[in-house]
Amino acid sequence: MIFKFFFIFFLIILIIKTTESVDSSVNVHLTKSRAELASSFKESLSFKTISFDKDDQNNKIDYSEFLRFHIFLQNKYPLIHKILKKTVINKYSLLFEWTGSDKTLKPLLLNSHYDVVPVVDSEWAFNPWGEIRNDNIYGRGTIDNKVVLMATMESIEAILANNYTQPIRTIYLCFGHDEEIGGLDGHRMIAKHFREISVKAEAIFDEGCPFLASNFIQGFEDIIAGVGVFEKGYLFYKLTSRINTFTHSAIPPQESAIGILSKALSKIESNPFAPVENIEKKNQLLQFFNGETIKSNPFLNSMTKTTTALSMVQAGTKPNVIPTTASAWVSHRIINGNSIEFVKSRILDLINDTRITMEIEAFLEPSPISSPFTTAYQILKQTIYQQFGGYNVKVVPTQLMANTDTRHYWDITDNIYRFIPIVGNFMDFVSIHGNNEKISIDDYIKTIHFYKKLILNFQPFSNASSSNHINKNLKINDYCPNSIYSNNKS
Ligand SMILES: *[C@@H]1O[C@H](CO)[C@@H](O)[C@H](O)[C@H]1NC(C)=O
Ligand SMILES: *[C@@H]1O[C@H](CO)[C@@H](O)[C@H](O)[C@H]1NC(C)=O
Ligand SMILES: *[C@@H]1O[C@H](CO)[C@@H](O)[C@H](O)[C@H]1NC(C)=O
Repeated sequence: MIFKFFFIFFLIILIIKTTESVDSSVNVHLTKSRAELASSFKESLSFKTISFDKDDQNNKIDYSEFLRFHIFLQNKYPLIHKILKKTVINKYSLLFEWTGSDKTLKPLLLNSHYDVVPVVDSEWAFNPWGEIRNDNIYGRGTIDNKVVLMATMESIEAILANNYTQPIRTIYLCFGHDEEIGGLDGHRMIAKHFREISVKAEAIFDEGCPFLASNFIQGFEDIIAGVGVFEKGYLFYKLTSRINTFTHSAIPPQESAIGILSKALSKIESNPFAPVENIEKKNQLLQFFNGETIKSNPFLNSMTKTTTALSMVQAGTKPNVIPTTASAWVSHRIINGNSIEFVKSRILDLINDTRITMEIEAFLEPSPISSPFTTAYQILKQTIYQQFGGYNVKVVPTQLMANTDTRHYWDITDNIYRFIPIVGNFMDFVSIHGNNEKISIDDYIKTIHFYKKLILNFQPFSNASSSNHINKNLKINDYCPNSIYSNNKS
């Protein structure tokens, strides 16, 4: 009896001690100084890894910059290049495999891209190819999306420098080189590679929604960490009207090509798509606002339905000549619940005019929805609270406004989460494809810590293992009432 008592007592002490040692071992510190981290990030921005459209006549992609960027990474991250397995995909995209000890666990994919959109140099107040001023780092790519690539590299280099060299679960870093022009040569080929080696992922984290600042929507004070669990599809097409008649303005036809097209465009614009039912159960950001607020806020309103944008018209060459054709370009962003076929046939029904043809130029179905009740989502959520808990932040599954390279991975995993861990302020995000794109050094360092914690929280090391690292006492401002997911919550 006494023996048994002591045995149990001993066991309890042992458990406590083990837990303690696990907790302290998690303390992976950054081995580089703040100045060194900022300077490396600034240097990463100096490579002009610009994606120009393939049909751009005036600008060609300079692939030598992409290759120089590879060499830069090789010099900056010796441990990663020593310990992880690097594969170059289609010349310019990079894949690093950090092989785990347990091959039965599906790998985690940390995705990003290092190509950037062009800049108009003269409109920048800072060097668009990297400048540090007033504790900010300026340059094209600071948010979209070199920050994620560099922060994941720094965090893993630091974890390796702390002697955590083999995770339990395999982690892949997937760096695309042409996200800004659709990712066909980059992430599409990386995903193809995963198919060829029969890899399915536990989850993918990719670029996505930034934090929405306090009062982003007036009167709403919480900071929102919107995790993109789905994105819209799209349909882009060209409409052309044709007439076969006199072309001099002195003897005009009763209906001109321009008139016919204008009527069609007017019908399209004055008949917007209706909001889809129950969208707020999928996009829970909408649950914070009432119907009136949603309707009057263009950002929120666009999240409830398929949108229509008339973006370009082309007709005529001279004031006194009547053209026989007129063209217009229209783009729709398709909400989950609608489909390409639905949008196309509704538009053709609206136009109802055989003199107008529709040529489809690009299309994508709305993405599948990833569940916020997976382990991966919960770990992401916990890590956000862990790193940013000092802010009044709410983590919410929502729809990402833009499209990402995750479109190439729908069959690699069901669990795709689009999020960028930067608090910043709203003006920073306006700068993403505009001028003076920037991140503060503090925010950059936080991003590195965030990825470090995310990786450690993903139960990757036998000697620093398991979700013990998620602080269960954190106050969780969770918000998931009335969810479509609550039935299959496990
Ligand atoms: C990592 O291991 C090396 C060699 O065993 C040792 O010299 C170094 O101090 C260790 N670093 C840390 C951070 O524990
Ligand atoms: C963790 O374990 C691995 C081997 O299992 C060892 O090489 C490494 O040094 C350990 N790391 C720490 C920080 O103890
Ligand atoms: C389409 O146009 C035809 C004639 O041009 C008309 O008879 C028909 O009612 C129209 N359909 C719709 C749905 O407006």
